[in-house]
Amino acid sequence: MSLIDRDRAVLWHPYTQMQTAPAPIPIVRAESVYLYTEDGRRILDGISSWWVNIHGHAHPRLNAALAHQASQLEQVIFAGCTHPPAVELGERLLHIAPPGLARVFYSDNGSTAVEVALKMAIQFWSNSGEDRRVFAALENAYHGDTFGAMAASDRSIFTRSFEPFLFQVERFADLADLRQLLRTRGREIAGVILEPILQGAGGMILWPPEFVAGARRLCDEFGTLLIADEVLTGFGRTGKMFACEHANVTPDLLCLSKALTAGYLPLGATIATEKIYSAFLSDDRAKTFFHGHSYTANPLACAVALASLDLFEETPVLAKVARLESQLRAGLESLRSLAHVTDVRVIGGMGAVELAANSPGYLHAMGPRLTAEFLKRGLLLRPLGNVVYFLPPYVITETETAWALEQIAEVLRGASL
Ligand SMILES: Cc1ncc(COP(=O)(O)O)c(C=O)c1O
Repeated sequence: MSLIDRDRAVLWHPYTQMQTAPAPIPIVRAESVYLYTEDGRRILDGISSWWVNIHGHAHPRLNAALAHQASQLEQVIFAGCTHPPAVELGERLLHIAPPGLARVFYSDNGSTAVEVALKMAIQFWSNSGEDRRVFAALENAYHGDTFGAMAASDRSIFTRSFEPFLFQVERFADLADLRQLLRTRGREIAGVILEPILQGAGGMILWPPEFVAGARRLCDEFGTLLIADEVLTGFGRTGKMFACEHANVTPDLLCLSKALTAGYLPLGATIATEKIYSAFLSDDRAKTFFHGHSYTANPLACAVALASLDLFEETPVLAKVARLESQLRAGLESLRSLAHVTDVRVIGGMGAVELAANSPGYLHAMGPRLTAEFLKRGLLLRPLGNVVYFLPPYVITETETAWALEQIAEVLRGASL
């Protein structure tokens, strides 16, 4: 039996309608920006394996760090124990994070990084003697698939089945909305959560730095917490190490995952200010933050994250993202003139083309059709409905980027969508 047949007999894939989806692509090996299939095809990973990869697949330095750590310590309980990679990663994350962040709490994926932030915010207020039950979040937000993260995410096809179970979140569309909300209900708002600069799964939507700075100012003015979900944007994806830097903003809570381990292993980090942390310090053990996961601060994941930060220090990674950004701009801008292109958006290592659709959204049928068309050409893309985006590992060469942009242009020019 082929890998696909064996897969189909026993597995259930994420975000996949198992009855109608095409067969999964059987990947047996990967290197740099390429994935290699069981039947010998080479496919360019144009979505960084769900936005996680940055230095390329099977990077020798990351592989070596992983192997070395495996020979030392693969895993240990993190309640009551500690280990060198977790401590060093904590130190180095605080060194590069926006100034004023002081404590790193590990978890194991992007959704849990967000859950931890939401729970910390709620308990921060209750430990401080205030009962705050409402969060404010942006329209089109996506923060993950666990219940808290779903509640913070905008209501969509992703959350439809679970709506009665999701806690109350007030939605805002701009700073005027947020001001109005904080003015009327400020004392109930536990925190304002947003994806700074780039909203990902909601459709690769860009926000100006002034918006992020404005949200920070409003949180300060009305005395609530700002939670920055940088699960997608962290580690250079928007051209700065963290998207908050575009606006010189320090959030009260910063959520990281995805590229934290350069796409090798699941790891989440929620970084809090000293003010939040100290609200949990008490002789009263009931004020403890009772949250943890079996693999919290997994040493293998922390070791790869450290090796990834070494690469940021030793090689001009962000300069590479800047060059990629220029090439994406130059390559995609010409598509704006196509009748069915409604917008082109580029930031850092992300380029998106929005296509006209009478019922835009994730489930638009053009998504799977386009995916199949790109795949035929050896390019892995996964449009968000009518939004086609390219978000490759930063190590992609100029020639490889030019090739991918050519495929996108050809498909979109010839498309009968
Ligand atoms: C902004 C943002 N937050 C949270 C998540 C959830 O991360 P994970 O898929 O690792 O749970 C994602 C995933 O795409 C994301 O883009």
